[in-house]
Amino acid sequence: MGIMRTKSIEQSIRDTEEPEFELRKSLGPLDLIVFGIGVIIGTGIFVLTGQAAATYAGPAIALSFVISGITCALAALCYAEFASTVPVAGSAYTFSYATVGEFIAWIIGWDLILEFTVGASAVSVGWSGYFAQILDSFLGITLPTSITAAPGDGGIINLPAAVIALLLTVVLVIGITLSSRINQVITAIKLLVVAFFIAFGVFFIKTANWSPFIPPREPAPGGGGFSLDNTLWESIFGGVSSFGFPGVVAGAAIVFFAYIGFDIVATTAEESRNPQRDLPIGILGSLAVCTVLYVAVSLVMTGVAPYGKLEGAAPMATAFANMGQSWAAGLVSIGAVCGLTSVIMILMLGQSRVFFAMCRDNLLPQWFARVHPRFRTPYRTTIMFGVLVAIIAALTPISDLAELVNIGTLFAFILVSIGVVILRRTRPELPRAFRTPLVPLVPILAVLACFYLMLNLAGWTWLRFLMWMAIGVVVYFIYGRTHSRLARGDTR
Ligand code: ALA
Repeated sequence: MGIMRTKSIEQSIRDTEEPEFELRKSLGPLDLIVFGIGVIIGTGIFVLTGQAAATYAGPAIALSFVISGITCALAALCYAEFASTVPVAGSAYTFSYATVGEFIAWIIGWDLILEFTVGASAVSVGWSGYFAQILDSFLGITLPTSITAAPGDGGIINLPAAVIALLLTVVLVIGITLSSRINQVITAIKLLVVAFFIAFGVFFIKTANWSPFIPPREPAPGGGGFSLDNTLWESIFGGVSSFGFPGVVAGAAIVFFAYIGFDIVATTAEESRNPQRDLPIGILGSLAVCTVLYVAVSLVMTGVAPYGKLEGAAPMATAFANMGQSWAAGLVSIGAVCGLTSVIMILMLGQSRVFFAMCRDNLLPQWFARVHPRFRTPYRTTIMFGVLVAIIAALTPISDLAELVNIGTLFAFILVSIGVVILRRTRPELPRAFRTPLVPLVPILAVLACFYLMLNLAGWTWLRFLMWMAIGVVVYFIYGRTHSRLARGDTR
């Protein structure tokens, strides 16, 4: 046995039944859909839609959402099979441990840590921007830039971003039931605001704003040829990525962020009452609802305002302000702050669960994995990562963070899709409450689509991602490989 050793699915499930590592099983199907929507609708739709429309795709940003949505649906079909077969905390990490082996599992776990931690930080920064705007427009209080922006953005520290991350850490330590309740209320507010945006905005659409639907191509930010500022695709194949069809795809790689989250439903498998049936419902259900809403929001947004005006930090509010409806703009801002709150919370939840699973397997010190005697939550990892998210959010600009999250997530999707095919071969007899249709076609298409979007991310993003993964490999060979519970035959 070596770095290719796999942990049997039966063993994964048995591990969750050990009292000192057991999480509370309290979530039903509605909880899971709400969980999914709670984390999916966030910075992506509230902020990135307008920015990507202004710089990459114009009104065709709706098309970018369709491309991204199809990619996610393909990956979701694979996630759903895995989640319904291996209902254990840890998502893609656990899935790959059961299939392709410990080293790949470690890689994916390390990758998910990046996705969730950096994602929570990015959304905290977005939250801070909207929070400052609400204070400003309703109470006339203008917070100084020095305490609302990271050093790279002209400030000293982003205090509201750090404070929200820490407050939500406390909520998560207290317990999943409480977290889920809060999330349901917040998600309802967020959905109402998005529905309001569509229903109200539709009356103000000027079809002239939609033409040309795909604006003509323009040179990419880094010029032609190889540059870390260009997407990898441009660096390799040349060409331009602003507007035109390449711009639509580059836009899709950016707004992909808006879909991140349906995979997190899978990380709560161990806490759901009937994972076999409910997880596929939760994953596919929340994804479907969000895709429809995103396409509608982008059409309305680019219909009520010329896409060039949507570049700011709050494009939904800008769109309404542009029609002279400032009260509606204020309302949308409040919804955005509520919405982003739940996104941060669930990203942090997913993060602590993946880390928890890795510690339980002793690829990281088990000390972190002990659950709280009263709250039954993995409080040590939750607190540690809550503080980390707060520090990153306080000190880093949002733009640096969002793309990094996308590349990490797309990579995770690729591994999960491959895992489905492998598991069908190695364990054909396992009961699967949900089966991915047309295997191996759907997983292959999922891999190709995800990789295509990855190629449409900037060179810098690739470099940062590869560096993070390299650190992960070092940590594995120094600690995980020798301490692994599986390596020691400690199966209890
Ligand atoms: N999908 C989440 C968002 O857009 C991460 O904020």
